[in-house]
Amino acid sequence: MFVQSTETKNLRGLQNGIYEFTDGGINLILGKNGSGKTSILEAVYLTNSGESFRTQKKLNLIKTGEEFSVLTTVFNIFNSNITVSALIKNITHYTVNNKNVGSVLNTKTSKDEFRCLLFTPDDIQAISGAPALRRDMFDRYIGALDNRYFKIISEYNKVLKQRNALLKSNDKHTSNNASVLGDKDITFNIWNLKLTEFGNQIIEYRDKFVMKINEIAQTYYNYISQEDNKISIYYKPNTAVLEIEKLNSGLEKEKIAQTTLFGPHRDDYEIYLQSQLSRYQLSRGEQRTTGLSLLFATHQLIKNNLGYNPVLLLDDIASELDSTRVKYLMEHIPIGQAILTTTEKISSTNISKIINL
Ligand SMILES: Nc1ncnc2c1ncn2[C@@H]1O[C@H](COP(=O)(O)OP(=O)(O)OP(=O)(O)O)[C@@H](O)[C@H]1O
Ligand SMILES: [Mg+2]
Repeated sequence: MFVQSTETKNLRGLQNGIYEFTDGGINLILGKNGSGKTSILEAVYLTNSGESFRTQKKLNLIKTGEEFSVLTTVFNIFNSNITVSALIKNITHYTVNNKNVGSVLNTKTSKDEFRCLLFTPDDIQAISGAPALRRDMFDRYIGALDNRYFKIISEYNKVLKQRNALLKSNDKHTSNNASVLGDKDITFNIWNLKLTEFGNQIIEYRDKFVMKINEIAQTYYNYISQEDNKISIYYKPNTAVLEIEKLNSGLEKEKIAQTTLFGPHRDDYEIYLQSQLSRYQLSRGEQRTTGLSLLFATHQLIKNNLGYNPVLLLDDIASELDSTRVKYLMEHIPIGQAILTTTEKISSTNISKIINL
């Protein structure tokens, strides 16, 4: 399973061209700042997931002065090629093996079967920043391991949105008589039921993932840093079990706050290196090493689960690391295909191809 090539036309400041990759090993995209390295990863990612990791508005990808952009990637899945093409205009149109699939990428033929794991410099903020960033990172990793998780998250968020809207709307439909349920109370009951149903599934997924990832992340951290510092990841759920009673008893508080106060949308994770909390106490290099260890551990879990290696898209991972860490990082990038961008030449026996921009 690998990315064979990606062809770009009118993509940001990147020269139009076909970029070919080798199956397995590290494909190094080397170039100066602004040469278009991240844009190539963006093209691969977009044709795999239907999204850009840099912007919500795909129009931003079209080279200034041009009317459209075309990105075409050939994915090799179990020895057969799948060609996914995105024509970005006012609306993005996708084709899969030259068949029009409309404005939503048919995930059955790409993302579900072909897993890409992305790491960008922004991911360091998931280690050092606010809880929402950590939740997003872990959600991406858990979903990459089991696609059904994304569906549960999406259902939960829909319910949460509706419930919050109800909390924000004025109270006039609520019954004054405690023994008679008003329309609004009935609606609350429905949302509470769904919120607990999806919420508890999310909690279970997150709990299991953290239990599995600790040991493997530790191994990678030791490999890259060549130190035996202990890395510990804890899942800190807002509520260990989301119960209807809890939602009911907190309802008055929630009506004042006009938002849902309980549930996995308020979860966090704590990551420690020895006794230092990653969020406040780690150096940049340590944060990066921690982030990469988590990514590589996820890669390993996917391999164990699905039996094949996901493709690694690694944007600028070597910066901020000292030369020893870069050396060991390159030596321990998990087996399979990796596409890696860098501004400085890196030497390693694992590099199978260098694309000079
Ligand atoms: N819509 C656009 N039209 C034209 N140029 C653009 C557009 N969007 C971005 N650019 C430019 O495209 C170039 C390539 O950007 P990209 O982020 O891919 O570079 P990079 O090689 O990853 O750089 P860095 O090493 O700084 O990360 C940049 O010079 C950027 O300013
Ligand atoms: Mg870049």
